[in-house]
Amino acid sequence: MNDNEHTKIKFFSGEKIPLEMHKARMVQRIDLLPIEERLNAIDMAGYNTFLLANKDVFLDMLTDSGVNAMSERQYAAMMMADDSYAGSETFFRLSAVLGDIFETRHFLPAHQGRACENIIANIFVRPGSFAIMNYHFTTTKAHIVRLGGSVVEVVYDEALSAESDRDFKGNFDMNKLETAVGEVGIGNVAFVRIEAGTNLIGGQPVSLSNMIEVSNFCRDRGIPLIFDASLLADNLFFIKTREAEYASWSLADIVKKMASLMDIIYFSGRKLGCARGGGIMTSNDEYFNRMRPLIPLYEGFLTYGGMSVREMEAMAVGIRETLDIHIISQTPLFVEALGKLLLEKAVPIVRPFGGLGCHVDASRFVDHIPQEQYPAGALAAAIYLIGGIRGMERGTLSEQRNWDGSEHLSAMELVRLAVPKRVFTLSHMKFVADRVGWLYKNRDLIGGLEFEEEPDTLRFFLGKLRPIGDWPKKLAAKFISHMPSGM
Ligand SMILES: Cc1ncc(COP(=O)(O)O)c(C=O)c1O
Repeated sequence: MNDNEHTKIKFFSGEKIPLEMHKARMVQRIDLLPIEERLNAIDMAGYNTFLLANKDVFLDMLTDSGVNAMSERQYAAMMMADDSYAGSETFFRLSAVLGDIFETRHFLPAHQGRACENIIANIFVRPGSFAIMNYHFTTTKAHIVRLGGSVVEVVYDEALSAESDRDFKGNFDMNKLETAVGEVGIGNVAFVRIEAGTNLIGGQPVSLSNMIEVSNFCRDRGIPLIFDASLLADNLFFIKTREAEYASWSLADIVKKMASLMDIIYFSGRKLGCARGGGIMTSNDEYFNRMRPLIPLYEGFLTYGGMSVREMEAMAVGIRETLDIHIISQTPLFVEALGKLLLEKAVPIVRPFGGLGCHVDASRFVDHIPQEQYPAGALAAAIYLIGGIRGMERGTLSEQRNWDGSEHLSAMELVRLAVPKRVFTLSHMKFVADRVGWLYKNRDLIGGLEFEEEPDTLRFFLGKLRPIGDWPKKLAAKFISHMPSGM
């Protein structure tokens, strides 16, 4: 198949909308509760969308993790799984696929992405060492900090401005990288990490030419280079469609080139591969031998690493399908479609359109809420309240407090409306834009949040909050006055 095929089908009207190159053959019923019940549900959940029960959610846009629609080939492969504790054929099949795609010699299975981060951090991070990266992910940073290390971020300043249209906002600023290594001292650098598709700053990609520069920099200095490929699919689509130099390359060749630049590659199979699990690949024997004993300790035996063999079979097929432009285009094209609908309603979102989801800029949407009152958390709760739409806070709530207990104010205050692959339709996107557009007009009614129960680590997962004042009730009353059905 020609990788550029997806751009060839056009509408006579000139309208650009995502055309699904698949059809739905199994579906799940969803319900939209009336707003009184949604108010009760978000209140019970401590205004934390992670704590909502899925039955109370209409459109689950929390994440794409483990919730992408799988292909018929993935389901078929699950039937072929070889269920054995040790030496499973499934492991060898998955290893062979990964070796073929990434041209790496070793594969270590793990139960999900953060498990890989735990193992990698255990090998490289020491008290006082520094992990330098384009941008952190929550669990990545938590493992590094737990071991006494620190994270240094070196994206361009514009990457943290939702309004900047700069392409490849996930790129490393090479001057900042050089300065960071100089400041911390090369001996204190645990590793450099490139995160494909930068989760916390709007799903913004890294260009292949930037990866080459970072790799050359690290190889010249003997610094291990680690690649978080969890969001590789979206990033790959953007390299293919936005980086002119590689437009004629096949997706397979782009992946091989990328992989050749890295010392260690890891991924969340919940994202990459549309299944549930994870893994680490390397061709470096020393790193492999150091990480290997930790797999049976933390994950499971070396040939399953905490995963179900059925998921491993689905993952092998899913990762191969990452080389199909019709599959990897789905999230970026739907993010763009939703983004355009939101922009028509003047809703502030992160530009340019990225992968993973549409990112609403809470610092402009609710600019009357101070960061200490979690504007993105409040907006996520309000979006659920008015639309039954579950997004995820990606702002100060998702940060850990500083050592002295003070708030670590996030560089961006975002609400991510994730677009898992092949799950939603254009009419769902229109519904989201309709409700978020209404909310934007009534944004003055949204107030802040404060903690009721605040966990020490990764507080955004389990923390419970309460509204400052009775704004949720007032917002619900206004909604009913405009939409008497409450739906
Ligand atoms: C970039 C990135 N790295 C690591 C992870 C952690 O993966 P998992 O959720 O499978 O533990 C995620 C999950 O969202 C991610 O987006």
